[in-house]
Amino acid sequence: MRVLFATAEFAPVYRVGGLAEATSGLVAALRAGGVDVRVVLPDYGGIELVGEVTLDVTAPAWLDHLRVRRGHLPGVGEVTLVDAPGMRRPHPYVDEHGRGWADNDARFMGFSAGVAALCRLERPDVLHLNDWHTAATLGLLAERPPSVLTIHTLGYQGVMDRSWLDRLVTDAHHFAWYDAANPLAGGIELADRVIAVSPNYAREILTPEFGMGLHDRLRALGDRLIGIRNGIDTSVWNPSDDPHIRAHFHRGDLSGRAECRRDLMDIAGWPGDNTPVFAMVSRLVEQKGVDLALDAVRFLEHLPARLFVLGSGDPELARHLHAAAAAAPDRIHFHEGYDAPLAHRLFAGSDLFLMPSRFEPCGLAQMQAMAYGSIPVVTDVGGLHDTVTDDDVHRRSGTGFVSSSVDPAGVVDAMHRAVRAWRHRARRESIVTRGMGRDWSWTTPAAHQAEIYHSLTGQ
Ligand code: GLC
Repeated sequence: MRVLFATAEFAPVYRVGGLAEATSGLVAALRAGGVDVRVVLPDYGGIELVGEVTLDVTAPAWLDHLRVRRGHLPGVGEVTLVDAPGMRRPHPYVDEHGRGWADNDARFMGFSAGVAALCRLERPDVLHLNDWHTAATLGLLAERPPSVLTIHTLGYQGVMDRSWLDRLVTDAHHFAWYDAANPLAGGIELADRVIAVSPNYAREILTPEFGMGLHDRLRALGDRLIGIRNGIDTSVWNPSDDPHIRAHFHRGDLSGRAECRRDLMDIAGWPGDNTPVFAMVSRLVEQKGVDLALDAVRFLEHLPARLFVLGSGDPELARHLHAAAAAAPDRIHFHEGYDAPLAHRLFAGSDLFLMPSRFEPCGLAQMQAMAYGSIPVVTDVGGLHDTVTDDDVHRRSGTGFVSSSVDPAGVVDAMHRAVRAWRHRARRESIVTRGMGRDWSWTTPAAHQAEIYHSLTGQ
């Protein structure tokens, strides 16, 4: 079974958000299960491949150049990189002011044309696409192999000028979107299977509230739309042998956690008292409910609790977080940026993990938090609904605290209930060990994914 797997992000090579970790985790698990997966990424620059070869692909006439090279990347495996006009940039999507590159339409159409060219050259058994950056591939291929499109978010659809429809070689009308072109909308129409990254998100996106304009198209898919929960890469996310954390621990012996907690306090400059610490590790975007967390900040003093935020993204949200931290440094600490080792230390050292998303296709951080014994406090949306059970509602089976509404009142109430539970050692430990005991690995989701490949190819 040969799968051509195209994505705009792949950890640890190019990482902006969860897309990178979800794709690399899935690919590792599929490969471990014997599926031959070829990973295709945009060539954003700065990557040297071992044993590099250039592939002889044919570019469409509208593309000034197309260069596809393949080789081995130590620690990652084989990758194929597509260079097209404008591809090489310091950040995959945005400039130094956080604004999308003006030519993102051309860049990712160029990438999709590269994926299509590779498909013609290598004739994979299955073509697996991820998000809008790759979805137009299906309109750039006159002959399509069996195909899967994974939706990691409907929040970005790649809507672009209608003139791009002229570059498509087939089914352009499926990509037509009012007076524009919409790669994700066309991909949804043409893929043989559409995967949403959690079962609950697969249901939510059929509604106008979460469907982002595409709910009718998604409804029309019937059983071609499937929800498969993401996993986390448990070889990277394992507190019993994580090289980034100060002390190791596991479900049967949590004592190392105290040392990790002190580590966090040292970074923030806080005293090692027993005020619970909430952590947030997040892209700073509206989706993640950063504004809801900012609203909750003024209640921290009354809970009482502290908040440590790690993240980068929207400059305006970052400005608010810096201001909140400057006004109450003994309660709030903000580290701007994405720092993978620090993320590990935060999961290991925080008491509670705040994730008040407005929508969340799956979410990985809440699973990473549970794997490291930090109790999640979440909204009841998307994959958060599938992965976190409220311990007040389901006493003795809960793994965290779930806000019944996506607003400041609901979030503060869930934070308050979490702090109360955390104060009771026995209850706290039972919630923590339940979360740590769940299987968050990719094993089951990847097996489900492989079954879908098999059902499409009959192999
Ligand atoms: C996007 C979604 C997130 C999901 C991730 C990986 O970042 O916002 O919910 O977990 O993709 O699929």
